[in-house]
Parts: sequence; C-alpha cells; structure tokens
Amino acid sequence: MTIGQDIKPIDAYPRVRRMRFRFGQPEPMTHHFVQDDIPLTHLISVLSGAFPPGEESFIRSVRKFSGEITDPVLKKRVAGFIGQEAVHGQQHRALNDQLIEMGFPIVRAFTFEPGARRERALITVENLVPRQVHLAVTALAEHYTSTLAARVLGSEAIQDIPGDPEVWNLLNWHAFEELEHKSVAFDVYRATGGSETVRIVLMAGTYALTIPVVSLGVAASILSDPRSWRPIKVMRQSIRLYRGPIVKGLMKEIRPYMRPGFHPDDVDTAALLEHWRQELFGARGELNDRIG
Ligand SMILES: [Fe+2]
Ligand SMILES: [Fe+2]
Repeated sequence: MTIGQDIKPIDAYPRVRRMRFRFGQPEPMTHHFVQDDIPLTHLISVLSGAFPPGEESFIRSVRKFSGEITDPVLKKRVAGFIGQEAVHGQQHRALNDQLIEMGFPIVRAFTFEPGARRERALITVENLVPRQVHLAVTALAEHYTSTLAARVLGSEAIQDIPGDPEVWNLLNWHAFEELEHKSVAFDVYRATGGSETVRIVLMAGTYALTIPVVSLGVAASILSDPRSWRPIKVMRQSIRLYRGPIVKGLMKEIRPYMRPGFHPDDVDTAALLEHWRQELFGARGELNDRIG
C-alpha cells in the first residue's frame, strides 16, 4: 500500500531545530513565574508536565504507520513532525526539572523516564486500541495544540502577559512549530483511510471533558503547592483566566474539527507563521542563539 499519494506538496517541511533553552539563568525563576498569577502559572506547569509523555505518544502513533508511507513528501513531513515533537519533549523536560526543583509536585507526577513502569503502562493502553484510534487521538490533540498556538502567537494581550522571559521563549517556539506541523498527523490519518466518524466521535468526547479535566488538573496542582494556598487570590485570578484571552472562546475554535470534511489547513495560519518565522528565526531572530 502506498500512503499519501494524494496529498498536495507543501512549500516547506517542518524543520527540526535543536533548541537549548536556559531556564533559571542568569536569574533564578520566581515561583509564580507568570508574574504573580497563581492559576496561570499552574496551568502552564500542568501543560508542560503533560507535554513530554503526550508528545512521545504522538510520535509512537505516527510511527505505527511509517513502514507504509512511501510518498516522499509525506515521509519528509512525518520525519519533521517526529523530530520537532522529540525536541519539544526534551526542552519541556528541561523546564519540568526546574519546576520540580521549585516545588511543583504535579509536574513530578507526570514525569517518567523512558522505560519506566508508567511509560510501559501507557504503551500497553495505546496498544489495546486499534492503531487508527491511537492516530486519531494524536490528530485531535494536534488540533488543540495548533488552536492554542494560533491564540498565543496571534494575541497581543497574551504576548503582553508578564512572565519569565525564557518560559515565554519556549512557549512561543513550541507554538510556532505546532503551527508548522499542524496537519501532518491528520494527513497520515486521512491517507491511511482513517474514519471520519471515529475522528469526530473521539473529538466530541474529548471536547466535553476538556474544561473539567484541565480545571481539575490545575486545582490539583495548586492544592499540592503550599505556596499557592491563597484562596481569595486564586479565585479572583481564576475568574480572570476563564474570561481572559487564553481561555475565552477557545472551545468555540476547537469545534470546526467536528465538521465532516474538516482539514487543519482550513484554518489559515500562513501569515501568522511567516510573521513569527521572522520574529524568532529571521536575520535578527530572537531565538537564533538558542539553536544548539
Ligand atoms: Fe509539540
Ligand atoms: Fe504537535
């Protein structure tokens, strides 16, 4: 079987950049590293904790099909996707090590080394479901990351949130590359005959659970960190977070994925991507000196 024959060539393949961020240097990070914002600090910590195991699972899901991908364009895009997700995992692990040292126990709960018992358990669960379902989970997760990425990179209000500069550098770079590879897993899914019904049903279930599960994760993170036990402040800042530019309207932007025939490229992010390519990696790009 030849996979991906009918996929249109794209201008550029996702490029793998071997980044090296310098967290806590030269100044140590402050505990609530999004300037004194407790829930947002914990939301970013929970996401950062979840990224490495999540992204490693995405890579495994796509690799399950790699032997069948013969189309050279799709092959290169898959290689770029795998390389980018691997570096994301490495760099979030570097941040997570800092966060664990700073006293964020929930990040430790997510952190397991390759080959550890929890990783083996996760792989067992992944292998219990058909590989198309595993890949469909990756494709929907990529819709979440690219939607969030477009918000982070496209909103001045979000960019203006004061926080640790190196954490922002990491998030902007990660967001940028999520946009670069946003349709790769989806195209592998579609090219391998992935069912529209399975794709949409999985998203419908995930959609309903997103806000409750993420809110519970953030609440658990705050409860596990005595330095965040400021109930009135947490309540006030949580309301601001739900009504603010990161969360408000996010779920509405996720919804189009449930339309039959949807493709990630239906959301045009080309101009945003080009703007940030110059900003981060152009001739005077802010992150050129972070490429190892
Ligand atoms: Fe990623
Ligand atoms: Fe991704």
